Amino acid sequence: MDLLHRPVLLEETIAGLQVRSGGVYLDATVGLGGHCEAILRTEQTRVVALDQDSAALELARERLAAYADRIRFVHINFAEFAPQGEDFDGIVADLGVSSMQLDNPDRGFSWRFEAPLDMRMNEQAVGETAADLINTSSATELSDLFWRYGEERFSRRIARRIVERRPLRTTTELASVVASAVPGRQSIHPATRVFQALRIAVNDELVALDAFLTHSPDWLRPNGRIAIISFHSLEDRPVKHRWRADPRLEVLTRKPISASEAEVRANPRARSARLRIARRLSPSEESQP
Ligand SMILES: C[S@@+](CC[C@H](N)C(=O)[O-])C[C@H]1O[C@@H](n2cnc3c(N)ncnc32)[C@H](O)[C@@H]1O
Repeated sequence: MDLLHRPVLLEETIAGLQVRSGGVYLDATVGLGGHCEAILRTEQTRVVALDQDSAALELARERLAAYADRIRFVHINFAEFAPQGEDFDGIVADLGVSSMQLDNPDRGFSWRFEAPLDMRMNEQAVGETAADLINTSSATELSDLFWRYGEERFSRRIARRIVERRPLRTTTELASVVASAVPGRQSIHPATRVFQALRIAVNDELVALDAFLTHSPDWLRPNGRIAIISFHSLEDRPVKHRWRADPRLEVLTRKPISASEAEVRANPRARSARLRIARRLSPSEESQP
């Protein structure tokens, strides 16, 4: 596990949220607690911290023990969250998987480690695992999934090869079947997009994001701010379009904020990160044509 976990776009997110003393914040994806800790460093802030992964919540609880009296942890999918009477001064969502999930060989998120094909962020969820999808979907369904959620141009060949070779039980079996179906050399491992697609499908990530984009502006006070960090265009596009059309919000980032070269050098995962920030309008601003 990456104990030197670096939160992505940390300064930019905290500055964008205008974190202030005494403010109340929602961290919708606490993960290893990096962004949350930065919020809690400002005096008298309080945070409601969500994660659908109980292992992540446990680690965040340990890391943030010094702030225990100012933080409430909730094990929940952010799509299902409902505030308990609080209005937030700021909301942050740092989407996708954490380095802990990627680097934990048992979770099956990465082609780099042999593990059962699971990929559920909430291990207590009853839903399908990646193995269920791989071993029971038709070639057409798999190909659609790899194309839609992975933008994988060899989706059909890969799907056909998987159907020929299955059942597949482990990450490394799947990675080598994918590699055998993809021609030539590529700049990233040939299984990267297939793994991304499976993870998005197993966790219904785009459906959860859609619900979050619908409800989260209502959780903000007037002038409260929301910051969303996404890692691929399938996430960034709905944030951009939904916010632009949302009468409750003023978008503060015309272009998304990307990581500096120095951050990308220190943390290659930051390369694809895109930060967007919006402000909740007051009722009088909302009613203006
Ligand atoms: C990129 S990590 C967050 C890292 C965190 N900002 C930090 O600094 O340590 C994303 C986290 O969000 C969680 N997550 C992803 N989708 C979620 C959802 N729909 N509801 C709740 N948690 C979610 C994952 O389990 C993971 O722990």
